[in-house]
Amino acid sequence: MAHDTATSVSGPVTRPHIRSFVLRQGRVSNAQRRAVETLLPRFGIAYAPALLDLDAAFGRPAPKILEIGFGMGETTAQIALAHAQNDYLGIEVHTPGVGSLLRLIEAHALANVRIIQHDAVEVLSHMIAPESLSAIHVFFPDPWPKKRHHKRRLIQPPLVRLLASLLLPRGYLHLATDWEDYALQMLEVLSAESQLVNSAQGFAARPAYRPLTKFETRGLKLGHRVWDLIFSRNAAGQRGKHL
Ligand SMILES: C[S@@+](CC[C@H](N)C(=O)[O-])C[C@H]1O[C@@H](n2cnc3c(N)ncnc32)[C@H](O)[C@@H]1O
Repeated sequence: MAHDTATSVSGPVTRPHIRSFVLRQGRVSNAQRRAVETLLPRFGIAYAPALLDLDAAFGRPAPKILEIGFGMGETTAQIALAHAQNDYLGIEVHTPGVGSLLRLIEAHALANVRIIQHDAVEVLSHMIAPESLSAIHVFFPDPWPKKRHHKRRLIQPPLVRLLASLLLPRGYLHLATDWEDYALQMLEVLSAESQLVNSAQGFAARPAYRPLTKFETRGLKLGHRVWDLIFSRNAAGQRGKHL
């Protein structure tokens, strides 16, 4: 098992790093492969265990929003297109998804998206400076439904402490899931984190900036529920606002 060092506000913590994903040999289409070959050098940022200068990476000072596990990137691209004033750093491990988002970046001429293809936990632990992000999005993280796999779930106290420490005062952490017991776990873990304040009473209404995915629309028609959680970084007793 790999070991990882994460920095939290209360000092460095060393903990076992159980991966939240399993890399499968997913099919990469020719178009996705081409996109990775030609566009990743332009829009990708290589993983390195050193702090990243976010403004330099995007070529401008602008609010920075980080997304963990963007999947095929449809939501990321839609949000980035609708908010040209913000910069979006997407982290994903799977090559088909990286290729797919790169194709969307090209199709929509998006100048405000960058990608790191690497384990988000390592990226967050080593590359992102404290209090540097306006927001963090984690939409439909893998639910790992079997009890013996729950340890692989991303949203656990040490990672949430780290995520909160990377947010600017008034920055927000937005999670969404369609898995009820994970939603309840998220609510418990976020509510227990002293750096965060819930923006709602319990679960939040889906804000207009988060588009409905095809998968979500289909699920909602079948009566499935989706839970959003939006917590703000609480600094100096301030109650945060969303962007
Ligand atoms: C269930 S999918 C959801 C994708 C997308 N957010 C959506 O709403 O459709 C979860 C994604 O998170 C990615 N993922 C899981 N753990 C990750 C990690 N530690 N670092 C980067 N990506 C991760 C997986 O590869 C997968 O694509």
